[in-house]
Amino acid sequence: AVEEMEVRVREIKEKMGDRLFIPGHHYQKDEVIQFADAVGDSLQLAQVSAKNTAAEFVVFCGVHFMAETADILTSDKQKVILPDMRAGCSLADMANIEQTERGWKVMQEQFGDTIIPLTYINSTAAIKDFVGRQGGATVTSSNARRMLEWAFTQKERVLFLPDQHLGRNTAYDLGVPLVAMAVWDSVREQFECDGDLADVKIILWKGHCSVHALFTVENVEQVRKNHPDAKIIVHPECSREVVALADDAGSTKYIIETIKASEPGTKWAVGTEMNLVNRLTQQFTDKEVFSLNPYMCACMTMNRIDLPHLLWALETVEQGKIINQITVEEEIAEGARLALDRMLARG
Ligand code: 13P
Ligand code: SF4
Repeated sequence: AVEEMEVRVREIKEKMGDRLFIPGHHYQKDEVIQFADAVGDSLQLAQVSAKNTAAEFVVFCGVHFMAETADILTSDKQKVILPDMRAGCSLADMANIEQTERGWKVMQEQFGDTIIPLTYINSTAAIKDFVGRQGGATVTSSNARRMLEWAFTQKERVLFLPDQHLGRNTAYDLGVPLVAMAVWDSVREQFECDGDLADVKIILWKGHCSVHALFTVENVEQVRKNHPDAKIIVHPECSREVVALADDAGSTKYIIETIKASEPGTKWAVGTEMNLVNRLTQQFTDKEVFSLNPYMCACMTMNRIDLPHLLWALETVEQGKIINQITVEEEIAEGARLALDRMLARG
């Protein structure tokens, strides 16, 4: 049955030609990635979506916020389809627009007009819209440092949402000391801060990626003990403690490029999503690549897009039935586009 499904996908792709475009995130399953027209990380997929003006149907193999971003950046004539509507992102779900507006009000009272928001691309379109309208921008793990540097040229303080770890790791990289960081707990609606709030330079939203949270200090210690010759590389969605103990940290794209460029025979323990780690193991046979967490860490929502869902979405498109279309209302897309364009202009 798998072969039959693969044959059908190929047939539809061939029949639709340039009218169909399938972007696929690196965390997608192999059974899906084999059919992607472009494979990339969040930044690359945002860029290809912005450039691809020909395709009438963009069948997005990734998660909901990525499909929303693609809809915002593509033309009105293009339809973005998510093969499974349950493919969300638990990190993006950790900040909703009501909480953000309430938190922002408290921050304005506390810090006045000295603060600018930055949102990780892993957030809802409504939050991107809010951030865009406040003069802020989106960031991805590939350009977080550059974007944070830019934000500090605009205002004295930055609100970084919704991933506290990417925010903390990037701020730390830029030399912002931990005492100058506060966490905004949007559930209790209060700051968590060790020092004086007046000295705070960056306010981190209390959100995290449930996949990257599975890589722990204990995992690092085990690898150091059992594989003393291995290098540890992790995604900056991992905690500060794990990033500090690792040999290297960077976005999905950075991890792939670093492993690719390493000497044959190098051992790598990788702290990121399972499908990507498995693909790297298979791809770089001259190196030894394994997961930093021996139980492997899968993103359940990314995995909801599988071959049957992809085929189903393609068949609906083939039959002219538009199901699972992701549309962002123009009212929200407008501000979100401002936030995305500020990022895309900076590469
Ligand atoms: P990047 O693709 O930007 O590295 O982000 C990782 C991620 O968690 C995507 O959901
Ligand atoms: Fe969201 Fe984390 Fe899954 Fe990426 S890996 S889609 S951030 S839950």
